[in-house]
Amino acid sequence: MNIQWDADRYTSNFSFVHQYGQGVLELLDLAPGSSVLDLGCGNGALTKALREKGYAASGMDASAELLAVARQSYPDIEFALGDATDFTLPEPVDAVFSNAVFHWIDAERQPDMLRCVHEALKPGGQFAFEFGGHGNNRRIHAALSAAFAERGYAYRMPFYFPTIGEYAGLLEAAGFRVTFAALFDRPTELVGPDGLKDWIRMFVKTPFAIVESEADRAAILDQCADMLRGELCVDGKWYADYVRLRMKAIRE
Ligand code: BEZ
Repeated sequence: MNIQWDADRYTSNFSFVHQYGQGVLELLDLAPGSSVLDLGCGNGALTKALREKGYAASGMDASAELLAVARQSYPDIEFALGDATDFTLPEPVDAVFSNAVFHWIDAERQPDMLRCVHEALKPGGQFAFEFGGHGNNRRIHAALSAAFAERGYAYRMPFYFPTIGEYAGLLEAAGFRVTFAALFDRPTELVGPDGLKDWIRMFVKTPFAIVESEADRAAILDQCADMLRGELCVDGKWYADYVRLRMKAIRE
């Protein structure tokens, strides 16, 4: 994963991540009591929602900070520390669910992740997920790239945002049958008058490692806000230009 999480700020200012995840839950078609792994469960809010749908849900995440929040919030749910690209389960499950996680995994590691998910599922098991798809945050990354270049820095895109075709191919190569796929725009309201800058500070950390001074960092953020105000700020509210890739596949 390409990030170090700030669990408190993630839960207080970026709760839309799990609120929007409710739509993905609807893709699961399971009997009550079915076992479900929430892969990249973060603060556990959607693991809890899976429980509320009657499933025997457990969570896994690579962030000890977010898992601590999940365990404190939902002490009756089992949460395990684990890497989505390198995990095994003691028993296979009926379904694997994931929201807003896979764009953090480099393209080269996606087949490893899909192999782990395949092994974690019973034959016929369901895999339902959503993450950033092709074109996600295109305007934000274009503005960052321009602001970096103006100061002599190369902006390295830290996310993986595939097309439906690309990801369906990976799923099929890993032994899944794709039964649903959608790529759709979902402009997402950000919190507060500095919503865009806060979003960048929270989620786009690794490209800034090469920026040499705090003054340059601040100037890049200011320039991005100036460049994007006309497109992404409406009546004083900032919106991120999200594009979601939502899919369901069956383990063959
Ligand atoms: C997303 O959910 O699409 C996303 C969130 C933070 C950074 C990049 C993508």
